[in-house]
Amino acid sequence: MSSSYSRKAIILAGGKGKRLAPITSVISKQLIPIYDKPMIYYPLSTVMLCGIKDILIIVSPQNESLFKSLLGNGEDWGVELSYKVQERPEGVAQSLIIAEGFIGDNSILLALGDNLFHGNELIDLLLSANERQTGSTVFAYPVRDPEKYGVVEFDEFGTVKRIEEKPEKPMSKYVVPGLYFYDNSAIDRVKKLTFSQRGELEITSLNQGYLDDGMLNVEIMGRGMTWLDMGTIDSLHEASAYIKTLECRQGLKIGSPEEVAWRR
Ligand code: DAU
Repeated sequence: MSSSYSRKAIILAGGKGKRLAPITSVISKQLIPIYDKPMIYYPLSTVMLCGIKDILIIVSPQNESLFKSLLGNGEDWGVELSYKVQERPEGVAQSLIIAEGFIGDNSILLALGDNLFHGNELIDLLLSANERQTGSTVFAYPVRDPEKYGVVEFDEFGTVKRIEEKPEKPMSKYVVPGLYFYDNSAIDRVKKLTFSQRGELEITSLNQGYLDDGMLNVEIMGRGMTWLDMGTIDSLHEASAYIKTLECRQGLKIGSPEEVAWRR
C-alpha cells in the first residue's frame, strides 16, 4: 500500500472572513473567485498533488450546501470529498477534533482554505513531507510582515527554537504557512490544548508541542515558491493578479483540480 493511502486530508474552509466584510456577510471567503476559479480550488489542488484521495472539507454551518453544490462528492476528479460543519470558529487546531472520525488511524494533511501555493519545488516538498509517517512537517517561508503569522525562531545554528503566534516582536522573518503534515497523535495532542487569549485552539501550540518532543520537521520554502494567504482585500486582489499573469502568459492553469486529477 502506498503512503498516500494512509494519509487523509482536511481543508479548513470555515471562519467568519471578517477582514473581507461585506463580501463575506453572504458568501464564504473560500468561495470567492481568485481570478477564474473559487478560492478553495487552490488548496484542493495542493492536497490532490500529494496524491491524497480522501478529503474532508470543514465549513461553517451557513455555507455547507454551497460547498456541496460546487464540489460534490469529488468523483469527477477521482477523489472522495466529504463535509463536516464547524459550529463556531474556535481555532484552526479544532479541525482535527472535528475530523477525528474521518481520520481514524491515518496520518493527516491539514490545509487552510485560503492559502495558495505555487512553484517548482512544490511537488517535491509535498511528496517528501507525505512520506514521513511520524511526527509533523511544517514549512517556513520568509515574509515582510511576519507579525501576522506563526513565526519561527531559530538559534545561532539555524535550529528551530520556538514557534510563536503573531508576536509583537518577531524573532525572524520566517513564518509557518497553512499546510501542516501530522501523524495520528495530533488528535490527542489537540485535545490537551487550552484555548488561547483570542479564544482559539491554536495550530501554533500544536506545532510547538511537536517541537518540544523533538518531532517537528521544519522545511524552508525557498524564494522560488509563492505562498499567498488570501484573507484580506489586498491579498485577494494580489492572488487574482498573480494567477491571471501566469495563466495568460503560459496558457496553463494554476489550481485546477481537473488538471491535477488528469496528471495524477
Ligand atoms: O495563513 C497561515 C497562518 O494561519 C499561520 O501562520 C498562523 O500560525 C495560523 O494561526 C493562521 O493564522 P490566522 O489566525 O490568520 O488564520 P485565520 O483566522 O485567517 O484562519 C485561517 C483559515 O482557516 C481561514 O480560511 C479561515 C479558517 N478557519 C479559521 C479558524 C480560526 C476556520 O475554518 N475555522 C476557525 O476556527
